[in-house]
Amino acid sequence: MNEYKDIINIYDVNINEEKDYERLIKFFGVKEIDDVILNNLKYLAGDLHVLLRRKFFYAHRDFDLLLNKYNEGKRFFLYTGRAPSKSKMHIGHLIPFLLTKWFQEKFNVNVYIQIPDEEKYWEKKADNYEEIREYALEDAKTIASLGFDPDKTFIFIDSEYIKNMYKAAIYVAREINLNTAKSVFGFDDNSTIGLPFYIALQIVPTFFERNIPLIPCGIDQDPYFRLQRDIAEKFGYYKASTILSKFVWGLQGPYTKMSASDPKSAIFVDDDYDTIKYKVFKYAFSGGRSTLEEHRKYGGNPDIDVSYFWLSVLFEEDDYKLKEIRDKYIMGELTTGELKEYTTNKIWEFLSSVQERRKNINIDKFMYDGRLAREMQEWEFKP
Ligand code: TRP
Repeated sequence: MNEYKDIINIYDVNINEEKDYERLIKFFGVKEIDDVILNNLKYLAGDLHVLLRRKFFYAHRDFDLLLNKYNEGKRFFLYTGRAPSKSKMHIGHLIPFLLTKWFQEKFNVNVYIQIPDEEKYWEKKADNYEEIREYALEDAKTIASLGFDPDKTFIFIDSEYIKNMYKAAIYVAREINLNTAKSVFGFDDNSTIGLPFYIALQIVPTFFERNIPLIPCGIDQDPYFRLQRDIAEKFGYYKASTILSKFVWGLQGPYTKMSASDPKSAIFVDDDYDTIKYKVFKYAFSGGRSTLEEHRKYGGNPDIDVSYFWLSVLFEEDDYKLKEIRDKYIMGELTTGELKEYTTNKIWEFLSSVQERRKNINIDKFMYDGRLAREMQEWEFKP
């Protein structure tokens, strides 16, 4: 590994071991989210979201600075996004939105959610653009169902909202040359000409307010915002602060991908109880022993167990309970079947409430006529 593009590039993420995450910190020049930052945040927020406590969000740019500025009375806003493709959202896709929602709740700030319907099409990860437009709306509904405040959240689909964004994109695109784009993202001669321009479109929403943009996202998205930071002040806007997450494991095992195009690897947001149970029992890689007898005698390994992974990242919020599960699994007191049953129920507890909210979601509020959405119909870039 001599180049970060071997680990992360515009087309692919290839994390093979925990050490790759440390490498990315060095390559990207970002900082670890340490206990000092977490304590400061906890002091302001009252508690810490499980994704922070367990350090699934593990790196940042200037988040310490943002907290200092916040203490001096400066405001911030949240921005994140999701590129729709041909398939529906899985539980891994929800992660940045869950943290974003938590920040909104704790700090009562505006949230902007970009749905770039052009991105995956230009990346050739999906072939039917008309279909992507439909998925864009489905994804918007799913995201809204996580509980965002409809008057403080604006969800926008690029091809619809482009009229407001285009002027800013004109300014931004001029500041980034192809050479930089290539070296930061790893475009090659077969890349479509859309993708380098798309960089500008993902930067534009960082200028939606004159406050500090805070962006919870996967660490693969950091390159966009590194470029943003080089140009923001020139236009009279703040450099973006990012909080960056690791990647979730697919059902097949440690460091495999949860891929929306492979149902054996993923649990989808709209899976019902039986489907979740079937997938967890049949596919979720287990750190348990091959026979019950051996398991009782030698115990299991939680650190390679996909069910335990998901409990520890997101679904078991109680630190004591998690520790108890871990200890009992190692001791062989808790069986693989019991762990899978517990995990299934935890996932279902969470997803059933999202599915319930999704049934009655009024997406127009988030996109057009909630308070923030209405305001944003008038937004204009003013360098
Ligand atoms: N590029 C992201 C993806 O591939 C989508 C996205 C758009 C995004 N704007 C964002 C992600 C801002 C994080 C922050 O899914």
